[in-house]
Amino acid sequence: MPVPVILDCDPGHDDALAILLAAASPALDLLAITTCGGNQTVEKCTLNARRVCSVAGITDVPIARGAEGPLMRSLHIGEYVHGVSGLDGPEWGDPTVPESEESAHALIVRLLRESLEPVVLIPTGPLTNIALVLASHPELKPKIREIVLMGGSTERGNDTPYAEFNIRVDPEAADIVFRSGVPVTMCGLNVTHQALATPDVLDRLRALGTRMGDLCVELLTFFSASYLKTWGFTSPPVHDPVAVARVIDPSLVEVIPAPVSIETQGRYTAGATCVDLHHLTGEPDNALVAMRLDTPRFWDLLIGAIASYA
Ligand code: RIB
Ligand code: CA
Repeated sequence: MPVPVILDCDPGHDDALAILLAAASPALDLLAITTCGGNQTVEKCTLNARRVCSVAGITDVPIARGAEGPLMRSLHIGEYVHGVSGLDGPEWGDPTVPESEESAHALIVRLLRESLEPVVLIPTGPLTNIALVLASHPELKPKIREIVLMGGSTERGNDTPYAEFNIRVDPEAADIVFRSGVPVTMCGLNVTHQALATPDVLDRLRALGTRMGDLCVELLTFFSASYLKTWGFTSPPVHDPVAVARVIDPSLVEVIPAPVSIETQGRYTAGATCVDLHHLTGEPDNALVAMRLDTPRFWDLLIGAIASYA
């Protein structure tokens, strides 16, 4: 039986690939795509989700707009990585897929209530929407099978020296999620940096000879330039599809249980995920932390999904 999932995202180049992977996978039943402010404003992220779904022909998945910004902080966007549109590179044209009339919050709550099976939430942006659902409807926690998120890191950050972007944007939301008692799997930079879109990957996408393959090359070409300029990466890590891949086939991503605390106070470290890999704090394990990616099989899965589109 396909696993019911909700993808909560901030498209975002790698979020776009996560959408394509989730929608194409027979292992998943993509109930909804919800958006939040992060890589760009929530208005632009929502438009971008519509753009991706329109080009891909994903017409049966509601796209609902979520939180404009963090719970307690002003929004910090990732324009320096994803560009002014949030999805710079390709020429998109006007989307044909509409935005849902429901808010992300209302849609997530309704889908959790209606689903016969507990739902997997896959956040690949700041955790604001997820935290709001957990805080306002704790009675729905049993309807959430697990939260498999892209965010954090067992090592250093990217948006600041010690904080990964998604957690850094809304540390308070992340704190609510990691303290919620809902099973959490954290796919952090330490594992997503194993998913590098190398020249070989781009060659495989070009060889598909499809519009979608070419569009993904255009996306990754822009994304590559951002990563080279900002962090000196010769190939960019595609973070968000790793979280989706973990839900599709858990054997692709090795995890270990560990206590994870979110720094919400640090002047220089706010948004850091403090992963106690050696159990030095005596805190209980509250997350599964992704440590190793089966990179060849990951790329076979993602490129195979992209190949399924025209
Ligand atoms: O730090 C990487 C994460 O931040 C990814 O989800 C990327 O899309 C941005 O949201
Ligand atoms: Ca993202």
